[in-house]
Amino acid sequence: MSTPQQSEPVIFNPFTPEFMEDPYPHYAELRRHVPVHEHPGGFWMLSRYEDVDALLRSGLSVEQRHVAPGPFRDAYTNAGVTDEPRLKGLALLDRDPSDHTRLRKLVSKAFTPRAINAMEPQIRSLVDDALDAIAEAGTVDLVEALAFPLPFTVISQMLGMPPTDNERLRLLSHTLMRSVEPTTDIEVMKAVEAADAELFALVGEAVSWKRDHPADDLLTALIAAEDNGDALTHDELVAQVAMLYVAGHETTVNLLSGGTLALLRNPDQLKLLRDTPDLIENAVEELLRYDAPVHNSRRVTLETYHVDGFEIPPGSFILANLAGANRDETFWGPDAEELRLERENARRHLAFGGGIHHCLGAALARIEGRVAIGELVRRFPALSLDGDVEWNGLLSLRGAARLPVRV
Ligand code: HEM
Repeated sequence: MSTPQQSEPVIFNPFTPEFMEDPYPHYAELRRHVPVHEHPGGFWMLSRYEDVDALLRSGLSVEQRHVAPGPFRDAYTNAGVTDEPRLKGLALLDRDPSDHTRLRKLVSKAFTPRAINAMEPQIRSLVDDALDAIAEAGTVDLVEALAFPLPFTVISQMLGMPPTDNERLRLLSHTLMRSVEPTTDIEVMKAVEAADAELFALVGEAVSWKRDHPADDLLTALIAAEDNGDALTHDELVAQVAMLYVAGHETTVNLLSGGTLALLRNPDQLKLLRDTPDLIENAVEELLRYDAPVHNSRRVTLETYHVDGFEIPPGSFILANLAGANRDETFWGPDAEELRLERENARRHLAFGGGIHHCLGAALARIEGRVAIGELVRRFPALSLDGDVEWNGLLSLRGAARLPVRV
């Protein structure tokens, strides 16, 4: 492992429209010059494949309450809001062992490969319906027409959520996404806290409704887990359901929109996929590598963390730059910044994280990606961009808010 050279100052400001448009040159600069970056905003960022992979497997904490006083923590104190809202603080994504071990075991019991594979026919039928509507419209915003409704409906159906105000849920969930990225904006913090409380109440009502209307679904299975002893408290149950709901669609929407955009911007690769439909499985892995739907994972150091010749002090908040690591030329080779659907080791991407928090929904996301992108390409030989992409303004869940296409 080489010791980084910090002689060239790198101005890394991820909060600009230009960064949103294309963050990859900035990630490349970080990797080359400051792979262990201490941001003035009070967080650290690692961006080399080797470092990010090691961090994810290191067993570092994910609990934000361990962050030491500093610009990042003080911003929350000054704003009078909690930096670990109720849902987030209780969801397994934000818990360390032994709570994480207990909750992951319970959720995995309900979220089985059988339950996931059983969704494929429904996914196919939802995709067919969406593509019929797209064919009829001719020009659409692909986010509204496919990338958002597919994963949102799939996770709602899997959970067996009662009919509810979907638009409201979508808005709350989107606001909550701000909580996974470092912010010192008081308005954003307050909005996150309010969304967290409202989502908690809405999902709590859905859980109560399901108690009276049990069925063969994920929510009923999770309620059974709560009823079978004291392994899961009511608040924990609500938090896991809300997390599945949010994680189940906010991420996959970026795979479907970002994956399609990457193909449209690389016509030779789009043609290759059209001519070789069997490539779809590897193509989805390469699309996940090329434009990771989740750009960063978060960790907190409880003691000094040694990386690449640096010492990161205890109580530091670290972003593991999954998207940058997925383009690291020292790991992937000189064509790391290119889309190559036939890349042999594409599956070694870090888009689903790693270590004990490795994505629980990876198998479901892969099916949704294969069916939606595979069918879109198959059915619409004239698929093309029909205007400018609008970005969602998120740092860690960076993706298209609007993707105009013509078929
Ligand atoms: C965790 C990415 C889809 C449920 C994660 C993590 C990443 C990730 C990077 C690890 C976070 C960390 O280490 O801190 C993705 C991507 C997806 C996707 C890129 C789509 C392309 C889904 C879906 C679901 C889901 C569809 C569920 C329906 C979860 C859960 C965790 C998780 C429950 C927490 C696991 C734990 O903490 O043990 N995901 N995800 N994800 N994901 Fe996904």
